[in-house]
Amino acid sequence: MPTPRPLGAIVLAAGLGTRMRSDRAKVLHQLGGRPLVRYPLDALAPLAPARVALVVGHQADTVRAAAADAELADIRMVLQAEQRGTGHAVACAATAFADFTGDVLILYGDVPRIRPDTLRALVDAHRADDADLTLATICFAVPTGYGRIIRGADGGVTRIVEERDATAAERTVTEANPGLYCVRSEVLFPLLGELRPDNAQGELYLTDLIALAARAGRRVRALRMDRIDEFAGINTRGELARMEASLKAEVTGHWMEEGVTFEDPATAYVGPEVVIGRDTVIGPNVVLRGRTRIGAGCRLDGTAYLVDATVGDRVHVRFATVIEGAEIGADAVIGPFARLRPGTRLAERVHLGNFVETKQAVLGAGTKANHLTYLGDCEVGPDTNVGAGTITCNYDGFAKHRTRIGERVQIGSDTQLVAPVSVGDDAYVGAGTTVTRDVAAGALVVSRVPQRTVPGWVARRRAQAAAAQSAPPAKPGPVTKPVRKRAAVKRRARRRS
Ligand code: UD1
Ligand code: MG
Repeated sequence: MPTPRPLGAIVLAAGLGTRMRSDRAKVLHQLGGRPLVRYPLDALAPLAPARVALVVGHQADTVRAAAADAELADIRMVLQAEQRGTGHAVACAATAFADFTGDVLILYGDVPRIRPDTLRALVDAHRADDADLTLATICFAVPTGYGRIIRGADGGVTRIVEERDATAAERTVTEANPGLYCVRSEVLFPLLGELRPDNAQGELYLTDLIALAARAGRRVRALRMDRIDEFAGINTRGELARMEASLKAEVTGHWMEEGVTFEDPATAYVGPEVVIGRDTVIGPNVVLRGRTRIGAGCRLDGTAYLVDATVGDRVHVRFATVIEGAEIGADAVIGPFARLRPGTRLAERVHLGNFVETKQAVLGAGTKANHLTYLGDCEVGPDTNVGAGTITCNYDGFAKHRTRIGERVQIGSDTQLVAPVSVGDDAYVGAGTTVTRDVAAGALVVSRVPQRTVPGWVARRRAQAAAAQSAPPAKPGPVTKPVRKRAAVKRRARRRS
């Protein structure tokens, strides 16, 4: 069998996307938590093209950065400094393909749902027919906005006419151009030089390549596609929102098939890279983004926001919890109203309750911090109890310092741990303590102000207040009076000591 010709690809992503009415380049708008430009690149990856050119223009650096970690062997950034149309954009990639001979797939950066299988089908049809140019076509019930496919008497495609340039009769054609082509490189680049901006937009249309190839006697083939959703282009915010909704429904549908319960699928947001274990129950208003992994048998009560979170099996995430870049061991209970920030690592059976915040905090198995606590830059051993209102004071205005707390430690309520500091295993920290020096294992540490009791103080105070109210209004006293009073108190104190 002869070795197949090399496969290359060009992805067009230079346009601003005027119809988005945005300061941000269209391909940077997010779909499913990822910029649009990532979608065609990720669809190409399984085909392992030998070379890919990404044509960038508007906000080129940001688009480049968004594409940087695509899993493509040889991706070259090509600048289209001035957006003179889709044909001009492809021509800008010519130098990146100067030493390349093979079949070149051309994709638009604003058609994000294309699947690798569809790209493969187009390449296979192109090669099987030994075609010079193969284009995908699709029949939309309402093809508004798309170029229309014009066929000749023999049924072959002779040209594409853009909607703006089409006659009324041509606009009734429902077979449209989804914007996916496979072209022999030897045919593609020379023909691009013949494009002319003789159209409503004064641009060099890539779509005119079809007529040029057909007229030059090249083998032009069309492959009719049937999955309409796959070829929807994003040109407006409305289209973006509709695609987001359909993508979301598809993703939650997939996880339901895998055994996940959504109490209200319409309000669950699950990103494309998220993984959820079976028998997990997701309540309303739950957002799962990035590379979040949820184990089996978990329960997320509702109103939760998880990004890049790793959650073990049977974890209960209670109402209104935010988890970012954190790992949670099996059987943990988190929230309500907890916030786990990056670098948090919880072993199994940890409990974090309401208004508890953690950051770069490593907590051992069975440790609990159930109320109003900040644990930052710290390690806490297993089976330790952190009382309400505990704060690791990790920042001295210059640098962050770590707190180390051992196993089976009891941290009393309203404790401040001024880092760097450590508390040994089995130690007790009395409520209200400010820990500024290391505490030995098994020790009790208390830094409380001694309690003072004044018997009958309230009754005397009330009597004074009542007397002041019934007395005639006092003449304004000398301004120095309060000072004299304080001096008298001080004198009395001195006499007592
Ligand atoms: C294009 C097609 C139309 C097709 C539709 C499918 C042309 C002339 N028309 O129209 O037939 O039905 O897509 O979605 O090709 N771009 C550049 N540089 C430019 C212009 C555009 O890189 O100078 C990029 C854009 O960033 C975008 C893509 O090309 O990702 C398509 O451009 P867009 O303006 O959206 O074309 P459509 O009007 O949708
Ligand atoms: Mg478009």
